[in-house]
Amino acid sequence: MSQIRIAPSIIAADFGMLKTELLRVEDSGADMLHVDIMDGHFVPNITFGPDIVAKIHSLTKLPLDVHLMISHPRKYVVKFVEAGAANITFHIECDDSPSVTMAEISSFDCRIGISVKPKTPLSAVRDHLGQIDRLLIMTVEPGFGGQKFMPDMMAKVEQAVEWRAQGKYDYDIEVDGGLDIYTTVPAVTAGAEVIVAGTAVFAKKDLREAVKELRASADYALHRKQYPEAYEEKVDEGELP
Ligand code: DX5
Ligand code: ZN
Repeated sequence: MSQIRIAPSIIAADFGMLKTELLRVEDSGADMLHVDIMDGHFVPNITFGPDIVAKIHSLTKLPLDVHLMISHPRKYVVKFVEAGAANITFHIECDDSPSVTMAEISSFDCRIGISVKPKTPLSAVRDHLGQIDRLLIMTVEPGFGGQKFMPDMMAKVEQAVEWRAQGKYDYDIEVDGGLDIYTTVPAVTAGAEVIVAGTAVFAKKDLREAVKELRASADYALHRKQYPEAYEEKVDEGELP
């Protein structure tokens, strides 16, 4: 069993069948559920708010990995804590003070995450690395599912691993956007430990199979031993190294 954790993103689910989708994802062997909150201001898209998160929480035992893509996260911390967030991840580019927002989250005994958009250098979060539980490195421009993974972000993942060792910090490193059985390989090789996957999980009929394949890619990256089946086909076709 690898130490890599898989976090399916609920925005890729069919909301018309939320209860069924939650049962399927709980049964898939995923480690947590990634919940994307968008406000139409920080990002161009809007998803849902704390009431829906509370509903999701009441329907699943999976820990909720709440990713706030909103301009004023501090104002909503208490709402998302009450809704059942296991951790609250906000963006360093938001309009609130990171220190004040972190203090607010930790006052509720909730785990703290900070995220960086692709164009933001990792140095923007450096001063806060000692206080966080999770560092979320975006591998697409936040706002929409189904976008293409940005391999250039792997340099940030490697830097995050290095700074964690130097500072003896203990955050985990999460990547989000365009992760599938192929892109999980460079992500895990660079040092990512939490893999968010929306399309790659929910577009599959069998979520258990989808999660299993992502784990196989992660294991391949960690041990270079066993290819996931689909990966092997591509290699045979000469498409991957
Ligand atoms: C993007 C979101 C991601 C996204 C992942 O703004 O934060 O969580 O939904 O979806 P896929 O895996 O389809 O890129
Ligand atoms: Zn997300």
